[in-house]
Amino acid sequence: MNIKLLSGVGLVAIALAYMVFKPGGDPVETSLVQGAAMVTVTLPATLSEQAQIGKRGFDAKCAQCHGDNASGQNGVAPPLIHKIYEPNHHSDAAFLLAAKNGVRSHHWTFGNMPPVPGLTDADVRNIARYIREVQKENGIF
Ligand code: HEC
Repeated sequence: MNIKLLSGVGLVAIALAYMVFKPGGDPVETSLVQGAAMVTVTLPATLSEQAQIGKRGFDAKCAQCHGDNASGQNGVAPPLIHKIYEPNHHSDAAFLLAAKNGVRSHHWTFGNMPPVPGLTDADVRNIARYIREVQKENGIF
């Protein structure tokens, strides 16, 4: 491949990495387009059966805000694959409450999360299990 093109691609990759991982940056990155993933998420090679069910629930009810693989969407909702949401800080009970009652905005500037209807506690526990397994793969536990 053409060396100029290669170094151009490299520069773009560095610039993108800087935007995503910029130390101490505002979580709502003005440098990212609306709806862009806010973190890079590595998926585990395998998910437990419970997490696989949870992933389907997440994709149906949560991903439209929290993004594919819970990587966040700039200007919409935060990544759940984030240190803020490690189990010690946000237990699975926080997931149940979030789905049931919604969330009053406090960690970010996205605004409130509305309650998500149509999920049983078991559905939400499966979703939490999915998030935990992906968090773990990304060094958050
Ligand atoms: C309409 C958009 C939207 C949808 C749909 C949504 N969320 Fe959220 N969620 C948000 C926003 C925005 C926040 C950040 C609130 C804040 O500033 O702390 C949030 C925060 C959270 C939190 C953190 C709660 C806390 O105590 O701080 C959890 C957990 C969560 N969401 C889980 C879910 C799950 C699970 C689903 C699907 C069942 C879901 N969300 C669907 C927008 C959404």
